Amino acid sequence: MSTSVSKLRVRVGRSSADDLLRDARDLPTVLLTMLRSMVDAWPDEVYAERIVETKLLGQRTHFVVDPALIRTLLVDEAASLEREAFMARALAPALGRGLLTSDGPLWRSQRRTTAPVFRPDHIRTFVPGMVAAAEATRERWLRRPKEAPAVDLAQEMMRTAFDIIITTMTSGEAGLDAPRFAAAMEDYLGQTNWKMAYVMLGLPAWLPHPGARRGAAAARALRAAVTGLIAARRTRSGAEQDLLGLLLAARHPETDRAMPDDQLVDNLLTFVAAGHETTALALTWTFRLLADHPAVEHRVLAEIAAAGSDVARAPDLAERLPYARQVLMEAMRLFPPAPLMVRRTTRAIRLGDTPIPAGRSVHVPIYALHRHRRLWDRPDAFDPDRFDPARHAARDRHAYLPFGAGPRVCIGMGMAMTECLIVLTTLLPAFRLRPAAPTMPPAQFRITLRPQGGMPMHLARRVG
Ligand code: HEM
Repeated sequence: MSTSVSKLRVRVGRSSADDLLRDARDLPTVLLTMLRSMVDAWPDEVYAERIVETKLLGQRTHFVVDPALIRTLLVDEAASLEREAFMARALAPALGRGLLTSDGPLWRSQRRTTAPVFRPDHIRTFVPGMVAAAEATRERWLRRPKEAPAVDLAQEMMRTAFDIIITTMTSGEAGLDAPRFAAAMEDYLGQTNWKMAYVMLGLPAWLPHPGARRGAAAARALRAAVTGLIAARRTRSGAEQDLLGLLLAARHPETDRAMPDDQLVDNLLTFVAAGHETTALALTWTFRLLADHPAVEHRVLAEIAAAGSDVARAPDLAERLPYARQVLMEAMRLFPPAPLMVRRTTRAIRLGDTPIPAGRSVHVPIYALHRHRRLWDRPDAFDPDRFDPARHAARDRHAYLPFGAGPRVCIGMGMAMTECLIVLTTLLPAFRLRPAAPTMPPAQFRITLRPQGGMPMHLARRVG
């Protein structure tokens, strides 16, 4: 199976004034390509080389696709990096300067304060809410008439993951209009690819673009909704063990300070934005890959059946479902929900033999790393056995990075894996999902990696 797409050639290596002129002429094509899918704008070399330098409109970028060099970059040189401006500028109107969009001391202080919120014992307290949301999807599917048309699984998983993050955040208390909140989040995130593409191409983010006005209104609505939620919880002095309660109670380990209200709003919105679409996409691609590989699906179903009827609620869920975990990991190798990490150097560094000056844009293209020809045998083939414990342990840890690496590794990783296993064990034994279109939809990279045109699937109840 291949998801290869026609690549737009971005110049590799040195460039001249002629190149610059040609780049300027290419600008509309480049912009369109980036808006359609940024993966298409990567040079082919990122699937075969260790480090690739590109130049576009005078901006140089290093793509790093070698595990040892990635380790140097993200772990050893973490203090020499900051987030790229395009990320912060595109997301800040809604997410402020929370964990995802801040750098330096502000980021460090927020990371230290919020890290305990995602401890495994806390994640276990989120499980009943996650199970309830997954069961709500199952009930909704059970109510569908037998001959109902195909569903867009991407939308279904988005809804499920959104229910999960909202339940996890608020224990389902009244006060948040979930459908309006979801629509505002969609309106906001839906237009950020324009802003990112503008800033990446050296253009101002305020240039007009489709959805800009709606996006600005959505950002205001999202912030107002979460501000209201915090105020309501404070008046009740409730001590719920949900994300909101845990975040309100969180203290910096050294200063013992709670987060100011604007940081609480920034981070709650960050968790919703960073946590729901990524998880939904991991599940969407997984269900489709399972449908295309019946032998693997059969093995997952047998494992779930052997794990017992209430496995979704079990505290040792992940240990009981090692093969299902492998399947999720392999799905996230082929279709990493967050396919690119971007940084800018704040001082000169070296990656192996390559000197990288201060102020350089450095990208880790996770999608390309996961399909790199030097690192993976049959890189485009779906094979969950790649992740059997012995084979996985023998592999360089930085060859596989669905959740990133270094101090900025995904804070919600444990929560996401638990959620994915719960949704899988709740839905797969109840429904046979079959693709409505024979070929896998192309992967479209717009911040996250979505199936272009959605993922239409037929749902049929399993009997017995
Ligand atoms: C399958 C699901 C998920 C995937 C694939 C994923 C992937 C990632 C990746 C690759 C990064 C690193 C980005 C970078 O270094 O540039 C990241 C960071 C982050 N993720 Fe996730 N994520 C997932 C789920 C979640 C969940 C459930 C939450 C929270 C509820 C979350 C919250 C965050 C936050 C706040 C950051 C920024 C951390 C920091 O900069 O300190 N993610 N995620």
